[in-house]
Parts: sequence; structure tokens; C-alpha cells
Amino acid sequence: MLASPKKNMKKLQLHNKTYSKVLQMHCLGVALVLMVFCLPSPTSSCTEQEKDSLLRFLAELFQDGGLSASWQNGTDCCKWEGITCMQDGTVTAVLLPSKGLEGRISQSLGTLAGLQYLDLSHNLLSGGLPLELLSSSSIAILDVSFNQLNGTLHELPSSTPARPLQLQVLNISSNLFAGQFPSAIWKAMENLAALNASSNSFTGRIPTQFCNSSPSFTLLDLRTKKFSGNIPQGLGDCSKLRVLRAGDNNLSGTLPDELFNATSLEYLSFANNDLHGVLDTANIVNLRNLITLDLGGNRFSGKIPDYIGQLKRLEEFHLNNNNMSGELPYALSNCTNLLTIDLKSNHFSGELTKVNFSNLPNLKTSDLYSNNLSGTVPESIYSCSNLTALRLSTNHLHGQLSLRLGNLKYLSFLSLSKNNFTNITNALQILQSSKNLTAVFI
Ligand SMILES: *[C@@H]1O[C@H](CO)[C@@H](O)[C@H](O)[C@H]1NC(C)=O
Ligand SMILES: *[C@@H]1O[C@H](CO)[C@@H](O)[C@H](O)[C@H]1NC(C)=O
Ligand SMILES: *[C@@H]1O[C@H](CO)[C@@H](O)[C@H](O)[C@H]1NC(C)=O
Ligand SMILES: *[C@@H]1O[C@H](CO)[C@@H](O)[C@H](O)[C@H]1NC(C)=O
Ligand SMILES: *[C@@H]1O[C@H](CO)[C@@H](O)[C@H](O)[C@H]1NC(C)=O
Ligand SMILES: *[C@@H]1O[C@H](CO)[C@@H](O)[C@H](O)[C@H]1NC(C)=O
Ligand SMILES: *[C@@H]1O[C@H](CO)[C@@H](O)[C@H](O)[C@H]1NC(C)=O
Ligand SMILES: *[C@@H]1O[C@H](CO)[C@@H](O)[C@H](O)[C@H]1NC(C)=O
Ligand SMILES: *[C@@H]1O[C@H](CO)[C@@H](O)[C@H](O)[C@H]1NC(C)=O
Ligand SMILES: *[C@@H]1O[C@H](CO)[C@@H](O)[C@H](O)[C@H]1NC(C)=O
Repeated sequence: MLASPKKNMKKLQLHNKTYSKVLQMHCLGVALVLMVFCLPSPTSSCTEQEKDSLLRFLAELFQDGGLSASWQNGTDCCKWEGITCMQDGTVTAVLLPSKGLEGRISQSLGTLAGLQYLDLSHNLLSGGLPLELLSSSSIAILDVSFNQLNGTLHELPSSTPARPLQLQVLNISSNLFAGQFPSAIWKAMENLAALNASSNSFTGRIPTQFCNSSPSFTLLDLRTKKFSGNIPQGLGDCSKLRVLRAGDNNLSGTLPDELFNATSLEYLSFANNDLHGVLDTANIVNLRNLITLDLGGNRFSGKIPDYIGQLKRLEEFHLNNNNMSGELPYALSNCTNLLTIDLKSNHFSGELTKVNFSNLPNLKTSDLYSNNLSGTVPESIYSCSNLTALRLSTNHLHGQLSLRLGNLKYLSFLSLSKNNFTNITNALQILQSSKNLTAVFI
């Protein structure tokens, strides 16, 4: 049967859309792989061997989401639902997200010699992740997130051929993987840029040599709930790392100085661990690309360093639920792109007026709940006209709120309780003009 070129064009356009979406999401320089996918429409059909591999995959599913309607042995598998081929008929992508698939992932997919993109996310697949997929010498993007895969992730057998693996993006997040997190496996994956292992139950430590073996890491999501031990110094070698999320684990110790060598970092989160130590380090200035810094839910102590003012790109700043103290530094006023300041549940003291909120025109959320702040509410805060949530409760603030409170016209949450404010009725009257106010605690 001859393929209708029009139909193929349409199919490819559709896929191009998917790919550009993925590209936007990763922003990880996987563009090269994607360009390969976007070659002109196929003119020949897939091989019997490829067809056989796909049918063996289908045979291991006990819920195939209707795939068998198009996955017919007698037809060209390039036309099957979810399959994309190159011009010469080589199967390059198997894209079956959210199809309601149940059953095991067959290792037979590992024999598709030209497969570059495998997306089985958002299904109900169980069993293990076949090593054949991890050790494939063609797969660049492997996404099996949001399934019920379990077992451990094994180290690659030493018999793995020495050819370089192409894997660039590995998403195994939101599964039931457990056991020791592998450390050696990454050595073979020198092209790996994004590893997302979040929402699993891996135990053990963050591998010490991550970036020695995979120098191209740009994204590491290790919110796997059960990692323990220290933050390895080796993460400082990740010179391309832009996103590091390792919150919600049991990590202990301090932030190693070497971490501040990872100067490409834009997103850094170690929230909800058991880290301690003072943050008053000049090294933090190295991370001047930071957009999000989240160290909430630890035991950090000491002051917010003045160096914070040099993080000009900072938008999200979370130090909530720690043991921080001292005054809020004026330098915070220099982080003019701030959207969120979350410093609740610490021991910050002194006057809030130190910070010039006039310099933070984008500020949307400011949470200073449960500290030891004193003095009056600074006039400058009323110029943050984009504020939607302001929590000042449980401090030692006093005085009246200004008439300019009415400037905060987007305010939807305001909490002032457990302070020593006067003339609150006046504040309430002013707030009557704030149409979007849904919660006020006084
Ligand atoms: C598909 O067809 C080929 C050739 O007709 C045959 O050899 C093979 O066994 C079939 N595969 C399946 C899974 O039925
Ligand atoms: C899997 O993880 C990658 C990298 O974090 C991400 O870009 C992708 O959107 C994730 N896939 C799903 C289905 O969420
Ligand atoms: C990792 O994947 C999860 C989906 O399971 C997603 O919500 C998360 O944003 C991804 N992490 C990063 C850093 O992209
Ligand atoms: C990494 O950080 C350490 C400690 O801060 C420092 O001594 C070392 O020179 C840094 N290495 C590089 C390559 O910048
Ligand atoms: C909190 O920080 C103070 C120093 O600012 C220190 O003396 C105290 O031990 C810390 N508490 C905890 C629980 O870490
Ligand atoms: C606060 O910043 C604004 C805008 O940059 C400036 O006009 C004002 O003088 C500053 N106020 C103080 C007290 O420094
Ligand atoms: C609260 O701040 C005041 C000074 O404003 C200080 O005297 C007091 O010790 C602080 N209390 C705590 C619990 O930090
Ligand atoms: C009020 O809230 C609605 C929806 O929550 C939003 O569309 C609207 O822009 C808000 N108006 C103001 C003045 O904040
Ligand atoms: C509250 O303010 C009043 C005067 O405005 C003062 O007499 C009182 O001691 C203050 N209470 C606290 C707990 O600071
Ligand atoms: C409360 O504030 C209003 C407006 O600023 C003022 O007119 C009034 O006198 C104040 N009341 C008290 C008791 O201070």
C-alpha cells in the first residue's frame, strides 16, 4: 500500500507540535534529536523485526487502550497509532502517553535500533523498567513517569557494549521504584542532561560523582522522599546544572562550599530536609543566575547575608521554617525581581522598615508569619501594588496601617493577627475598596 503524502504531512505536523511542546518544557538543548525526528514523511515501511518488537510489547499489555485496532500484523507499523518513522521506515518514536495501558513494559522495545523517543507516561504500567531500554544505544528521551513501575533500578551489566549511550532525558518520576539509588549507571550516560527521579521511594545517598560521569546535566530532580546523608561536594562540578531539586528527603549536614561552584544554577531547592549551618557565605554570590532559592523546612541559622542583594534575578526566596535570626537586610531591596518572600516561622527580629519594598514592584506574596519583627509596617510596602497575599501575623508590630493600604488592590489574603496594631477599624474601612479580598485575619 502506498502512503498518502497528505495524510503523512498531517501526522508529522501533529508530531511536530508535540515535539516543540516537549522542547519548550525541557529547554535543554535536545533540539538536535528533535530535528532528526522532523525529517520529511516516510516513503518505505518498517521492517518485520520492528513490527515483531512492537507486537511483543503489545502482547505483554493486558489493557492496551485500543491500540490493537491499528496495530495489525498485516499493515505497515509506521501507520500504527503512536508510532513515528523516518523516511526510510525506521521507527524513531513510540509515543503512547495517557492511553490507559496496563501490564509490563516489554524489553522488546529495546531492540528497536532506531528508537529515539519513548513516551509511556501517565499509564498504569507495572513491573520493572527493562535494562534494555536504559542501555539502548539509540534512545534519547525516555519518559515513563506517572506509572506504577516498581523494583529497583539496576546498575548496567558490565557486558553493556562500550558504544556511547544517547540518553539525554530520563523521566522515571512518580512511580514506585525503591531500593538503593544506583550510582554507577550514570557513568555510561555521558549525554544525560535531565534526570527526573522525583516521587519514588529510592533510598541511599545522592551519587557523589554525578557530574564527573555526566558532565552535561542541566536538570536533576531528586525529590525521592528517602535520600539521606550529606549533599555531595561533587554537585559543584555540575557546571551546566540549571535545575537542582532535592527537597523532601532526609539530607543532613551543611551546604558544601563546592555547591556554589555550580554557577549555572537557576533553581535550587533543598526544602524540607534536615540541613543546618549558617548561610552567611560570600560564595552565594557565585550563584548569580538563581531565580528560585528554596531552603525552607530545615535548621539553617544565622542572618540572611547582605550578599543576597547580588542575586539580581531572584524571584522566589523561601527560607521558611528554619532557625534564622537577625534583621532582614536592606540588601533584600536590591533583589528587584522578587515575586515571593517566604520567611515565616523563624526568629527574625528588628524593624521591617529596613527593607525598601518600593524597590520590589513585582512582589506578589510576602509571608513573615511567626517571627519577632517589631516597629511599624513600612510605608514602602504600600507601593507593592501587585501584592496578593501579605501575612504579618504573630510578630511584635504596632502602629496604624496607612491609608495607602487601599493601593493594594489585588490583595486577596491579609493576616495581621497577634500583633499590637491600633485603629484596626480604620484599616477595615480602607480594605472595603479591595474587591478581591477573600480572607482577612485581624
Ligand atoms: C506477523 O506476520 C508474520 C508474517 O506473516 C509472521 O511470521 C509472524 O509470526 C506474525 N506475528 C504475529 C505476532 O502474529
Ligand atoms: C518528565 O521530566 C522531564 C524533565 O523534568 C520533564 O520535562 C517532563 O515534562 C516530564 N514528563 C511529564 C509527563 O511530566
Ligand atoms: C519531574 O517530573 C514531575 C512529574 O512527575 C514534574 O512535576 C516535575 O516538574 C519534574 N521536575 C522538573 C524539575 O522538571
Ligand atoms: C570549588 O569550590 C571550592 C570551595 O569553595 C574551591 O576551593 C574551588 O576552587 C572551586 N573549584 C572551581 C573549579 O571553581
Ligand atoms: C538556633 O540558632 C541558634 C543561634 O542563632 C542556636 O544557638 C540554636 O542552637 C539553634 N537551634 C537549633 C534547634 O538548631
Ligand atoms: C526606596 O526606594 C525608592 C525607589 O527606588 C526611592 O525613591 C526611595 O527614596 C527609597 N526610600 C528609602 C527610605 O531609601
Ligand atoms: C525579640 O526581639 C527583641 C528585640 O526586638 C529581643 O529583645 C528579644 O530577645 C527577641 N526575642 C526572641 C525570642 O528572639
Ligand atoms: C480579582 O480576581 C479575579 C479572579 O479571581 C481576577 O480575574 C481579577 O483580575 C481580580 N481583580 C483585581 C482588581 O485584582
Ligand atoms: C501594645 O501597645 C500599647 C500602646 O499602643 C502598649 O501599651 C502595650 O504595652 C503594647 N503591648 C505589647 C504586647 O507590646
Ligand atoms: C483612626 O484612623 C483615622 C484615619 O486615619 C483617624 O481619623 C482616627 O482619628 C483614628 N482613630 C484613632 C483612635 O486613632
